[in-house]
Amino acid sequence: MVTRPLRLGVNIDHVATIRNARGGEHPDPVRAAQIVAQAGGDGITVHLREDRRHIRDEDLARVQAATGLPLNLEMAATDEMVEIALRHQPHAACIVPERREERTTEGGLDAAGQHNRLAPIVARLRDAGIRVSLFIAPEARQIEAAMQLGAPIVELHTGEYAHATGDQVAVELRRIADMAALAAKNGIEPHAGHGLTYDNVQPVAAIPQLAELNIGHYLIGEAIFCGLEASVTKMRELMDAVR
Ligand code: PXP
Repeated sequence: MVTRPLRLGVNIDHVATIRNARGGEHPDPVRAAQIVAQAGGDGITVHLREDRRHIRDEDLARVQAATGLPLNLEMAATDEMVEIALRHQPHAACIVPERREERTTEGGLDAAGQHNRLAPIVARLRDAGIRVSLFIAPEARQIEAAMQLGAPIVELHTGEYAHATGDQVAVELRRIADMAALAAKNGIEPHAGHGLTYDNVQPVAAIPQLAELNIGHYLIGEAIFCGLEASVTKMRELMDAVR
């Protein structure tokens, strides 16, 4: 088994959360994107939510222009978001389930149960040259659904792993490892993310098929104490140490 390089996509949504708390322009997610690039991040991830609680429409072009890094746009499977993605042409679009009342993306996308709704969306984004990713629970039926939809990437939801305690940690890690292997065997590039921290990232980063991790809340939280460049650099080092 060849271990691939593992990219780090940094989700900068919560820089915008802090900005929006006061309604002004500070702190600017553009500056965060520039620091991520300096610190060795491989991509910028943003989630334009339906309620615009953090990243706003006007942030997209500004963040895209701020660095040479690829932009990964997390988006709900709605016509509005597809139009925005087609207009902005991010490098990648990660389709996520979205419920207005949730605090964060709490579960994976039901790719298996929503084939007919997702198929035209995946096709439109793919036809526009955008790399489509589906944010799914680490379950075989969701990988199979991603294959049927022709999605080139799946992002495996690591939330259950991150929240597990005791013996359940190993069980959840095994699910992610098995599903990363299943995806790769079927020609789908596996990514992972959600709830990853300095303490829990390494067992996930060691899964050889994974090509990218997307990490946000913890890195922005740590940046309050040590700065964003340092938090991204440390996460990179922890990931690199197990590849
Ligand atoms: N990947 C996806 C698809 C997400 O929706 C999120 C949360 O926005 C993340 C990764 C990052 O999760 P966290 O902020 O917990 O690191």
